[in-house]
Amino acid sequence: MTKPPVAGNRTGRKLGQKVKKGKLKASSRRWIERHINDPYVQRAKLEGYRARAAFKLLEIDEKHHILKGARRIIDLGAAPGSWSQIAAKVTSSTDEDIRVAAIDFLEMAPLPGVRILQLDFLDPEAPRLLMEAIGGTPDLVLSDMAAPTTGHQKTDHLRTMHLCEVAAHFAVEVLGEGGHFLAKTFQGGTERELLNMLKQNFRQVIHVKPGASRAESVEMFLLAKHFKGRKAEDAGIEAGDQA
Ligand SMILES: C[S@@+](CC[C@H](N)C(=O)[O-])C[C@H]1O[C@@H](n2cnc3c(N)ncnc32)[C@H](O)[C@@H]1O
Repeated sequence: MTKPPVAGNRTGRKLGQKVKKGKLKASSRRWIERHINDPYVQRAKLEGYRARAAFKLLEIDEKHHILKGARRIIDLGAAPGSWSQIAAKVTSSTDEDIRVAAIDFLEMAPLPGVRILQLDFLDPEAPRLLMEAIGGTPDLVLSDMAAPTTGHQKTDHLRTMHLCEVAAHFAVEVLGEGGHFLAKTFQGGTERELLNMLKQNFRQVIHVKPGASRAESVEMFLLAKHFKGRKAEDAGIEAGDQA
């Protein structure tokens, strides 16, 4: 079971620390204070995860069981790599038998069992390269992609929603039957058209907000479970072709 983070100093660092007023802007100081006092940050350090985001995936999995049995996983927007760490572990991926492909336009330090592509997911070559990297059909497509912030909230929101939409279409193109898709979205942000497309292709589509996702953040996750497969659609196309 994913334990809630322990407020305290298991990492040897006390919570409630303040950063001295100095040359830092007030907003930067507040960010640093929140970061060093965040129990999830401390627990990530303690458990060897590269980011506190690990606990978002673990908490979602604890309730919705999307990792169990996954043999191949694609991780979109993967840096610094905590979701890929988890993916490599659950798939028992090794450098000799790669079962996890990760993409990010930021550089990401190597991880055993993970093929890392430093590339924009919106690059037309990305889907093919990801599928080549993984060498088989994925049962899980994860996307924690968040567009770089411009300072203009509406623009940032729209860009991240666009990434979510492109990721969803990619998932429907590549997932094996019974597979799952999890992607970052925003409260009230998922377009009806995208939801309808997912509902047509998956048995269950829900929004989830894990405890590790900061309460003040509008971040949510869109979870589409049990991909129905492409058979019906393909058969329809074939039947249409013959008509
Ligand atoms: C919240 S972080 C991911 C954290 C990651 N899940 C982890 O556990 O370490 C979001 C990432 O999405 C990446 N990203 C945003 N847009 C992208 C794009 N178009 N292509 C690839 N990566 C992208 C960012 O560079 C950033 O590293």
